[in-house]
Amino acid sequence: TARTGGGPALAAPATAGAAVSVPLTILYGTESGNSEELAARTAKSAKSRGFKPTVKNMADLSPADLAKSERLVVIVSTWGDGEPPETATSFYKGLMSEDVDLSKVSFSVCALGDTSYEQFCKTGKDVDARLATLGGKRVAERRDCDVDYEDSYQEWVEAAFTALAPAAVAAVSEISPVVAPVGSTFGKKNPFPAELLDKVLLNGRGSAKETWHYELSLEGSGLTYEPGDALAVLPVNAPDVVEDILRAARLSGSESVTPKGGQAKPLAEALREDFEITTLSKAVLKKLAEVAPASESLAALLADEGKEELREYLWGRWIADAIRQFAPDGLSAEALTGVMRKLPPRLYSIASSPLEHPGEVHLTVASVRYDAHGAPRKGVASTYLADLVENGDSVPVFTQPNKNFRLPTEGDTPIIMVGPGTGIAPFRSFVEHRAASGASGKNWLIFGDQRYQFDFLYQLEWQDHLKNGSLHKLDVAFSRDQPEKVYVQDRIRQRAAELFAWLEEGAHFYVCGDASRMAHDVHEALIDVVTTAGGRKREEAEAYLEDLKKSKRYQRDVY
Ligand code: 2AM
Repeated sequence: TARTGGGPALAAPATAGAAVSVPLTILYGTESGNSEELAARTAKSAKSRGFKPTVKNMADLSPADLAKSERLVVIVSTWGDGEPPETATSFYKGLMSEDVDLSKVSFSVCALGDTSYEQFCKTGKDVDARLATLGGKRVAERRDCDVDYEDSYQEWVEAAFTALAPAAVAAVSEISPVVAPVGSTFGKKNPFPAELLDKVLLNGRGSAKETWHYELSLEGSGLTYEPGDALAVLPVNAPDVVEDILRAARLSGSESVTPKGGQAKPLAEALREDFEITTLSKAVLKKLAEVAPASESLAALLADEGKEELREYLWGRWIADAIRQFAPDGLSAEALTGVMRKLPPRLYSIASSPLEHPGEVHLTVASVRYDAHGAPRKGVASTYLADLVENGDSVPVFTQPNKNFRLPTEGDTPIIMVGPGTGIAPFRSFVEHRAASGASGKNWLIFGDQRYQFDFLYQLEWQDHLKNGSLHKLDVAFSRDQPEKVYVQDRIRQRAAELFAWLEEGAHFYVCGDASRMAHDVHEALIDVVTTAGGRKREEAEAYLEDLKKSKRYQRDVY
């Protein structure tokens, strides 16, 4: 067809009357790759709608660059509790603080997020408000999408295209088909049943933790991955949890329900396979208030201005607790499924190298178990793997690329890896991959966990790698082996001179693991390294690290 280059964008010139090609900027900010994938899809459908799309990553752009875009759509996710994606941080800060004239810009924002977090879609909301403050014209309302974003995205993109298209284009446009990405026939829409080959408990007896190593087969799937990528696991809910919510709702489980886009099945089966039946959120409570309208205490909780009471209520409680409290007479099967969202896949950083383990993928997963409000609680996917899957069983999976967490392209570049707890996972993949590919660069691993005796994950493998020269330096921080806490950031400060020397030699610096505290504390320690060993002032050290990030030499995979 003639849809390439700057030529006519429409295959129906007779209706269009003339060649139409309307520039459209598609800006995305991505963490796990969803926004990026949607941006690529938006570009494809934009072409068939008479636009000439340019896709831009927030990582590669400054806010001032937007002034020239007359038509702009933004797809941006929110990470953790209200944070912008790692690679979009600098753009986001700039947009919020700089004075840019966007009076020529017509825009619409699609916000991706997760309703189980309080700051749902915060980044998208902030960007949307700021674009308007800077003079931009919002031509289609922002759409806030939950983890199951497909339908909301489709509605948003239709509205945005219609609003942004000049009359001639709008008149001829047809609803564009969603073009499926090529490659494996297995993916998000069609997960691959991966056989569990082996599971090994990594902690010793006596540990406070339960961290498992899982080996899955990708044989025959056509699925591929690179070190740094993630594996999405589609879990099912445990039988005791299904029974508990049925009891709370006063239902038998044999009622027939039809999950969105699926077929009619017994409620108990739908609760097992299709719905997130545990995690409580404000979104769930709001929907519960609609089907339990008599509950004044729920209305009061949702009206809580300071949100403190609501936050406290949500902590550690499950949907069944809220049903018992606010709908004590139970719910109909439709009302029950109506308050819940679809069970989303869980992403885990891959712990294996495809060179070292062809046809396999390995994970390092800590089982989430705790007591709250007088009852035992557990994480859905981590305990699904630990309790419900045995060797020989299959686990529905698909691979999810993470281009923001990649080994250096040059094998001789040194790398420094900081991965406490399950943050170790991608570094097992990195070190295996560099050994298997004969990369000559130095590898430095900084690991931390509670106790040396029980929690030194993959200890024998690291010792082997040290012995055969594929690991050059290993520092460990066992926080509970002595009266005072020792963390990975303490090791970083102790090794300031050497660490700075590695950075000056061009080393890449990687951090994986806890986002709420660890990643921040490690960043602070890095600032100290650059000030003490590098003789820089604090602002200079911050700029030094910002430059490292921009040149993709400082990468984080935090959750
Ligand atoms: P702790 O549980 O003894 O406090 C992996 O979970 C390791 O990370 C544990 O040793 C844990 O220590 C430690 N850890 C906890 N908070 C941390 C922080 N803010 N920075 C770095 N490591 C931390």
